Amino acid sequence: MQEREKWERRYQQAKGSVFGSEPSLVVRRALPFLPRPGRCLDLAGGEGRNALFLARLGWEVVVADCAVAGLARARRRFAAADLCVRLLAADLESAVLGQPRELFDLLLVVNFHDRSWVVNAHRWLRPGGVLVAQGFAKEQLGRGTGGPSDPTFLWGANELLALATPGLRVLLYEDHLVEEDENPAHRGPKWVVRLVAARSVEG
Ligand SMILES: C[S@@+](CC[C@H](N)C(=O)[O-])C[C@H]1O[C@@H](n2cnc3c(N)ncnc32)[C@H](O)[C@@H]1O
Repeated sequence: MQEREKWERRYQQAKGSVFGSEPSLVVRRALPFLPRPGRCLDLAGGEGRNALFLARLGWEVVVADCAVAGLARARRRFAAADLCVRLLAADLESAVLGQPRELFDLLLVVNFHDRSWVVNAHRWLRPGGVLVAQGFAKEQLGRGTGGPSDPTFLWGANELLALATPGLRVLLYEDHLVEEDENPAHRGPKWVVRLVAARSVEG
């Protein structure tokens, strides 16, 4: 089954929310590094838990994802919170990501396992804009606490750092085992990789 169909089905079939209502810890970790609230693109934002958290802080958010059922969940969440969101149903392949139509103050990429985004991330940022990204490390394989089972979706040592940061200044990089409960369905320690990096103000 294609990734896209897999996610569509997962969001269609889940009784409650798939990733919970709390934002990913990487978003909270990144808060001290963010510019003043502006425009945020949440790539592969799913049900919008991270975007909703940011919208509550004054960010104007766009949630892009290939799963229409996930975006429908995000729409309901934002409506219930009486907050605005722009939803974009798109397969985020490198052809799409390589040609940004608008620039953002914040690019959020939380557990988007396809790597299409990584080399194009800096293109989507305004000068002074910040990339906040999280994925799983190769060390997560076989732990049974979440994350992809396809090893090609997991980051090797310093790989995310090397691929995403040309043109960006690294503000935070972590590659370690954490105890957080990111996904209510997968409790227990997870080996995550986190990156916060900024485009220089000069552009
Ligand atoms: C692990 S979930 C993370 C969702 C969200 N970022 C979060 O933290 O709650 C991965 C998301 O990637 C989306 N996705 C996978 N492949 C995609 C693609 N090619 N284009 C757009 N979205 C994709 C899925 O639909 C799913 O919502």
